[in-house]
Amino acid sequence: MTLEKILQSQGFGSRKSCRTLIRDGCVSIQGNTCLDPDAAFSTENLFFEVDGETWRYRRHVYIAMHKPSGFECSHQPQHHPSVFSLLPPQLIQRGTQCAGRLDQDTTGLLFFSDDGAFIHALISPRKHLAKVYEAQVRHELQPKQIEALRSGVLLHGEKTPVMALSCNAIDEHLLNLAISEGKYHQVKRMIAAAGNRVEKLHRCAIGSFTLDETLPEGEWRWVEEDELAKLGYTPA
Ligand code: URA
Repeated sequence: MTLEKILQSQGFGSRKSCRTLIRDGCVSIQGNTCLDPDAAFSTENLFFEVDGETWRYRRHVYIAMHKPSGFECSHQPQHHPSVFSLLPPQLIQRGTQCAGRLDQDTTGLLFFSDDGAFIHALISPRKHLAKVYEAQVRHELQPKQIEALRSGVLLHGEKTPVMALSCNAIDEHLLNLAISEGKYHQVKRMIAAAGNRVEKLHRCAIGSFTLDETLPEGEWRWVEEDELAKLGYTPA
């Protein structure tokens, strides 16, 4: 692939601006500045530097973020900054979206990608991928609340009950709950329908992909293609 196309595919702007970056001497491959936008390179395990910052060529973006509280999952946020402001602009430029949404006050695991099939696989309720949450609740948990969440609760405005894939009390005010759908405010509404109230919500896992404990709030990391199997996904 030509260097100009490589940069363009990785989110460094239009064809013209990528040519300019290269001709201005801002781009190097393995330490050697390349001034020719038409020079061709294999993209396999390709590392390149732009303005001294090293990038790896990636066919697709797969990212896991530890979403902090106080950020909206929207490109046009209403009341809080956007989670997209926590990502490099090159990733936004290449069309990276979040896979499903978390409320502004929810923390935890949030995936981003520019692979539409991956986003669909993650959010489609038909794939039955467990989204695992820890919910801190206001009132002491009652066995009948846990039972209701397991057997199904009717959400306000819905006709059919929704049930948790699993639901277990960790302590009197902390609940571990997994769901496969992603209805609007689903966990908060389910817990309200069971007669309690969510005070804090954190997503700790999706499928068997668990949020790294060492990843601080607001930070993200690349997810390698072989890790996607934990989400039941194989890139085409
Ligand atoms: N359910 C909710 O109520 N909020 C979230 O952010 C995610 C799931």
